[in-house]
Amino acid sequence: MDLRTKYEAAKTTLGTHNQQHLLNFWQRLDENQQKSLIEQINDLDLEKIDRWIKDVVKNPEPLEVPTEFDPAPYYPALPMPDMEQKYALALEKGRNLIREGKVAAFVVAGGQGTRLGFDGPKGDFPVTAVKNKTLFRLFAESIIAVSQKYNAAIPWYIMTSPLNHLDTVEIFKKNHYFGLNPADFFIFQQGTLPNFAFDGEILMADKDTIAQSPDGHGGSLRALYRSGAVEDMKKRGIEYISYFQIDNPLVKVIDPLFIGLHAINNAQMSSKALKKNSPTEKVGNFCLVNDRVTVIEYSDLPDEQANRINPDGSLVFELGSIAIHIINTDFVESLNKEGFSLPLHKAIKKIAHIDYEGNQVEPKEPNGVKLETFVFDALPLAEKSVIFETLREEEFAPVKNATGVDSAESSRQLQIARAAAWLELAGVKIPRKADGSLDCVIEIAPSFAVEKEEIVKNKNRLPKINPGDKVYID
Ligand code: UD1
Repeated sequence: MDLRTKYEAAKTTLGTHNQQHLLNFWQRLDENQQKSLIEQINDLDLEKIDRWIKDVVKNPEPLEVPTEFDPAPYYPALPMPDMEQKYALALEKGRNLIREGKVAAFVVAGGQGTRLGFDGPKGDFPVTAVKNKTLFRLFAESIIAVSQKYNAAIPWYIMTSPLNHLDTVEIFKKNHYFGLNPADFFIFQQGTLPNFAFDGEILMADKDTIAQSPDGHGGSLRALYRSGAVEDMKKRGIEYISYFQIDNPLVKVIDPLFIGLHAINNAQMSSKALKKNSPTEKVGNFCLVNDRVTVIEYSDLPDEQANRINPDGSLVFELGSIAIHIINTDFVESLNKEGFSLPLHKAIKKIAHIDYEGNQVEPKEPNGVKLETFVFDALPLAEKSVIFETLREEEFAPVKNATGVDSAESSRQLQIARAAAWLELAGVKIPRKADGSLDCVIEIAPSFAVEKEEIVKNKNRLPKINPGDKVYID
């Protein structure tokens, strides 16, 4: 089909879906721009988009919130005495699966990091307390450490988005993959979804470019499949995907106990959870809806439910999601073969675009809708799903904001606190000020320990720490 015919076809189709304005500047585009625009238009599923506009973009209450739900059962961070044997079995199982090369690491890193105010992929943000290692370096070193410990390859899959893909590839090349074997490194892009004005018109970012944004971390389930990552995993014999976010330097990238608990329960997708620090903390809540594990967003959990208390004083809905999952490769594959879809969440945003005259508009107020899918919405699609509690001080120190809560500084303090706690376990005396706060800066390299048990094992290699010291242990 020549370009003219493609243009006529696109014009007719767009006309029937009230989106003909996408071609407003056709005559002013050169041939390459025209080709690119036609490709973008042909990639749009306009039937689906019509439904999204009606059901989500223009609908003030797009998502149905379940009205009947219970708290979801979970495995506590530390086993009750009657469960100790099960945890021991799970740990052994998890370790064996890693040893057998059945586990891969997977980070979602397609987000924009706008709140952090960092210009570049968030993975390139320096986070550690002494060496200022970036998130990418820290995770790479953790993967290498676990891989050496178990004498097994642990491939690392990284999802980016069109916003940061090329920059991310460049960072890894420039840094020689931070010591990873390039053969065990697989990078791919997530999909995008068009941005809409409130009336349902698709916005144009430029005369030849449709305004689009990444389709949310839920897009990872499709992108893993479409990119060939799942196929690559199957070839390697990877059965379990250890999913984490780019923003949490304390995450246990590969956690044998979590993997083992997931595996011995024959689960398809499992989650780590934290006890919330307040009834309305801004994290998703783990619930059971029709017997399936479901995350209900904090904004959707009615206050009277959020505040419900058990006889022992604990919260009924006490568990929040921190976006750490184990997902079976087979589960991702079957979702895609069955043509699954996740609910679309809408975010009302300021979206830069061009107007009908082609002038750039930088809105001061929200002017449109971005759509996203969330990975935890796949949990109810799993027949079996395990929740494993982890401890905030052990595993959660996200870097999300420039200052204050969940900032680089708060994360750094939490990283130092965990390092100090690990060292104290091994009998090291940690200098503290009169008010009890730490009087030293400590960073433990993943090559030295990725778990506290390794610190205890390497006890006699630990340094003495004096007040005011800055110590890097590797
Ligand atoms: C998220 C979770 C929240 C959880 C918190 C833990 C949601 C809606 N909320 O919040 O329940 O308590 O993390 O830290 O998920 N990403 C992509 N592509 C995208 C969008 C995001 O790869 O299109 C990645 C980001 O790079 C990041 C992660 O997903 O690694 C989280 O995204 P973000 O938007 O920062 O989530 P939060 O609002 O912080």
